[in-house]
Amino acid sequence: MTGGTWNTRTGFLLAAIGSAVGLGNLWRFPFAVGQDGGGTFLFVYLVCVVGIGFPLTLVELSVGRRTGKSVVGALMEIGEGIWEYLGWLLVASAFLLLSYYTVVAGWVLRYGAFGFIDGYPSTVEAASAGFADVAVGLDTVGFHGLFMLATVVVVALGLRRGIELAAKLMLPTLIVLLVGMAYYAYGLPGASEAYAYYLVPDIGFLLGNWSTVLPEALGQAFFNLGLGMGIMVTYASYVDREENLIEDAGVIIAFDTAISVVVGLVVFPILFTAGVPPSGAGHGTVLISLSAAFGGITGGGIVGVVFFGTVVVAALLSTVSLLEVVVSYMLEQEDFARSRRATTASVGVGLFLVGVPAAFSLSVFNIYDLFIDRVLLVFGSLLLTAYVGWRYRDEALDEALRGSKGTRRLGKAWIWTVRYPAVVFLVFVLLLGITDY
Ligand code: PFF
Repeated sequence: MTGGTWNTRTGFLLAAIGSAVGLGNLWRFPFAVGQDGGGTFLFVYLVCVVGIGFPLTLVELSVGRRTGKSVVGALMEIGEGIWEYLGWLLVASAFLLLSYYTVVAGWVLRYGAFGFIDGYPSTVEAASAGFADVAVGLDTVGFHGLFMLATVVVVALGLRRGIELAAKLMLPTLIVLLVGMAYYAYGLPGASEAYAYYLVPDIGFLLGNWSTVLPEALGQAFFNLGLGMGIMVTYASYVDREENLIEDAGVIIAFDTAISVVVGLVVFPILFTAGVPPSGAGHGTVLISLSAAFGGITGGGIVGVVFFGTVVVAALLSTVSLLEVVVSYMLEQEDFARSRRATTASVGVGLFLVGVPAAFSLSVFNIYDLFIDRVLLVFGSLLLTAYVGWRYRDEALDEALRGSKGTRRLGKAWIWTVRYPAVVFLVFVLLLGITDY
């Protein structure tokens, strides 16, 4: 994907949204809400997205367009001294995230496939038992490998057009299905209790638990928006110079966040109706609640297969973009004399092997998940934010304002946010996250 610009603005936005929307929204978000206090978590999450996610997305976009390079190349260009190597850290984060991301994608693949063959279980209890079988083991390793293979094939062939088409079909399908399912969930007897749980923050709970809720919410926001891995830097390097980056950041974030919020509107009424406490279903929260719902309604089998199929595509668009970050970095190295295919295949094998322990044990899985979410993404973002805010601010400001109708004053407010509150907040949350981890 080196060289050139996106054909259309919509093409860029679709690719960016396709990368942002993934298992973070469809699997991890409801699980995090269930673990960390329902409406309180949602509230803190939204504050993190608007207050931190938005300015930091703009940081990545402006660095990418300014330099026209992938994240490693960009930092080699703008970084002085040791900062030159910051891009590597971000690529390493993408690598680690991808190594276990496909384990989860493998779960979804199995739910889609087996639901189609055997039908979905009609009770939440049966679905929970089903998840216990799926979560870890040799089969899980197999599905993890299968998904990794699919990702490798797409990246190795460079199926750009296919990806754009997949994104074009997937997003509308996903939105229609989710809204339809939210409507179905609205009619369930547990809906009002679920809404009270999911939508109403509890300040008392927040005061008592802020030290875990805050790192989890921020980490979730980063995972969801794909921050801290340099993906937005890479994508923005192909953006037209006159395009409005501020607006783009807003569109990407609005879509991504809306999808997560609607997923919660689907999942929690189902769990409450079935009498399952939202914190009790763990990693299987979404798979269990939805497969039981598909098993319980007429025609649910078809809806289920279409839904899980769409989630698989969403996950694939994310894994492809993550692998692309790693591969494009390696191909950029001058002394690196291997073909795109060979590189992609060997990175894929490496990723598969690193992910295997997470496919064998949920405790290992948790170690990966929490380390990435609470520590690595926040750390990478902190360094990038601090560097751009303090050393690269004039260029970044110039770039963010070009093509936008934003005033200089607004831009100054953005840079100020990046330099002071964002950096202080990230340091603080990182320390909390490390203590917690
Ligand atoms: N944002 C994606 C998700 O929510 O699942 C995960 C992700 C994809 C992160 C691609 C980073 C990335 F480059």
